[in-house]
Amino acid sequence: MKHFLEISQLSRTEIESLLERALYFKRQKQCPSFPKQTLASLFYESSTRTRVSFELAAKRLSMSVVHLELQHSSENKGEEMADTLRTLSAMGIGCVVIRHSKEGIQQTLADTLKEEAIHLINAGDGVHAHPSQALLDMMTITECKPDITKLKIALLGDIKHSRVANSFQCICKKMGVGELVLIAPPIWQPETLHYGRITHQLREGLMDADVVICLRVQRERLLNEEELDFESYRRDFCLSLSQLAHAKKDAMVMHPGPINRGLEIDSQVADGPQSFILQQVTNGVYARMAILEALTI
Ligand code: CP
Repeated sequence: MKHFLEISQLSRTEIESLLERALYFKRQKQCPSFPKQTLASLFYESSTRTRVSFELAAKRLSMSVVHLELQHSSENKGEEMADTLRTLSAMGIGCVVIRHSKEGIQQTLADTLKEEAIHLINAGDGVHAHPSQALLDMMTITECKPDITKLKIALLGDIKHSRVANSFQCICKKMGVGELVLIAPPIWQPETLHYGRITHQLREGLMDADVVICLRVQRERLLNEEELDFESYRRDFCLSLSQLAHAKKDAMVMHPGPINRGLEIDSQVADGPQSFILQQVTNGVYARMAILEALTI
């Protein structure tokens, strides 16, 4: 694998292989060692989970990690991003993980740097894609409920502004998930769907679901004309214990984080016995180990 940019660029076999390796790393606690490899971390947008878990994943594979302090990088002196990456490559850095607000920027860089021996990883680009999140979400689901062809999965929230929702639809399509229902108020429904169907009816969408994934209300991406009254959103779409009761009794509750408690999910649900939110975080390290290994070997 040259780059890890979008789920749609991977075959089902490649996804299955990444999931298998991630589970192997988790269960066996053994991993290969790549001491000559270095990962550079370029986060132009805020992150806790993705940034830290890529760093931990690299370190568990005995890779070195460098973080570019972007406020002090030479891009502030006018250097183009492609030249920054060429510079890192010339220093022997083989993998670069990038989060950026501009959709498709990692792909544009990959196209520009065809000749460079550098592997790019998309850690989120605007509202477009977050493929490593999709991988860890699918790992968390299949670890608990392996026959995904029989599952009903509900994805609830601000679908329109969610790169998590886009990549998750793509991985569900590749893996043949039985039923995917996207639940959102009309104003936050996307123009195009990659997989599944969309509804604004929370109860119907949640009915008999095996997995419920709540999405963060992305206040920073809302345009003025898209703003919902948060109190009515909370009233109509917040995942409370009473709404969760429409799903199956053993339904998994997931959220990519960070969570807005009391807005898209109640604390009783987020911290309750059906919550897999922290397992997602744990699995994120193993899923990212699998990605780094696949790029490095
Ligand atoms: N889920 C996710 O991408 O979290 P961070 O923004 O903390 O990386």
